[in-house]
Amino acid sequence: MILDAFRKRYGRDSGVRVFRAPGRVNLIGEHTDYNLGFVLPIALDLSSFVAVADSPDGALRIHSEEKQQTREWPAADIGSLAPAHDWTDYVIGVARELVLAGFSIAPKLLLVRSTVPEGSGLSSSAALEVSSALALLGGREIPPLSLAKLCQRAEVGFVGTPCGIMDQYVSVFAREHAALRIDCRSLESEAVILPDGIEILAVNSMVKHALGQSAYKERTEECAAAVDAIRRLDGKVQSLRDVTVAQLERCMPSMPKIIARRARHVVTENERVSLFVNACQRGDVERMGQLMVESHVSLQHDYEVSSPELDFLVDAAIGIDGVLGARMTGGGFGGCTVNLLRQGAGERFRATITHAYQERFGIIPQIFDCRPSHGAGEVKNFERIPTRATLSD
Ligand code: GLA
Repeated sequence: MILDAFRKRYGRDSGVRVFRAPGRVNLIGEHTDYNLGFVLPIALDLSSFVAVADSPDGALRIHSEEKQQTREWPAADIGSLAPAHDWTDYVIGVARELVLAGFSIAPKLLLVRSTVPEGSGLSSSAALEVSSALALLGGREIPPLSLAKLCQRAEVGFVGTPCGIMDQYVSVFAREHAALRIDCRSLESEAVILPDGIEILAVNSMVKHALGQSAYKERTEECAAAVDAIRRLDGKVQSLRDVTVAQLERCMPSMPKIIARRARHVVTENERVSLFVNACQRGDVERMGQLMVESHVSLQHDYEVSSPELDFLVDAAIGIDGVLGARMTGGGFGGCTVNLLRQGAGERFRATITHAYQERFGIIPQIFDCRPSHGAGEVKNFERIPTRATLSD
């Protein structure tokens, strides 16, 4: 029980509340969020849980079970701390944004338990940000969109990752049994009910290439360069979201080749999100699978954010009976693939992909069932919080 862990750490368990925020897997719409386009993630059961109680002294103390580290600061100093370049930046970054938004940060004891594997591309960072923000707020009201934006600002401004809004948004707004189609410009979303008869599995390559951080920033710059080039021909274009495939084709010959390919990924990926949602609504699971594979190919060749491990996992997956489609998910350069299967194909898939991956890379991949879960909030029934022992299941 999380209360036992809290008592062991802080010597008390009265007045403890627990807040949860989920990780996510993105079904389609990759590297489109910071181009103000469309994404279609689902929230996972894998989540970050933050247990919180008032602190007896003036300190804000945080313990991470995963890192086995406890850190503390005077609560009064939270608004003026500099980044420490470690896991605490997610929590302190959020605390700082809360202060900037006019919330006071009282002295608190926090214990963080996360089942979202770090570095897997399943958004452990956003889960930690959102759950910490809720814990620090301790039940004080905040509009959900402000919460998502505030957590994104913490990641961009304090942690220093120039991410889009997808991960924080879905962690806050997700609905059970549905994917969330997010319009990253208007910041409106709609639940998209997934058809019956499918299973979604994430396969963790267990590899994260260091290149990811710098390449992400580079891609955002390349997209900005694409917008500049297209705007010279059409002054109304504000972001790649505004560009149609036909329009891009007209502009491509006058653009540097790499920039043109980056833009082609984003423009076609936005279109694939709409096609995927339509296919979903018709129950056309084959088409959904095809679009996922097209998305992967585009990420691999045009956007160049895949990795040999991810390409192998996708190729191996689509050769397995009952697999409708597969693609890398998240920022790329490692992390997970997301796989769409016919119901009942999961067991064979797990065995076959594990064997193939182990044979090729000598690594046993982690495989997760992805059932669309609900967004962040307070957990009242502590029995439902996983114990440490189940973390690596
Ligand atoms: C990371 C970022 C998201 C998004 C994806 C790529 O997960 O945090 O905002 O850009 O990469 O789709």
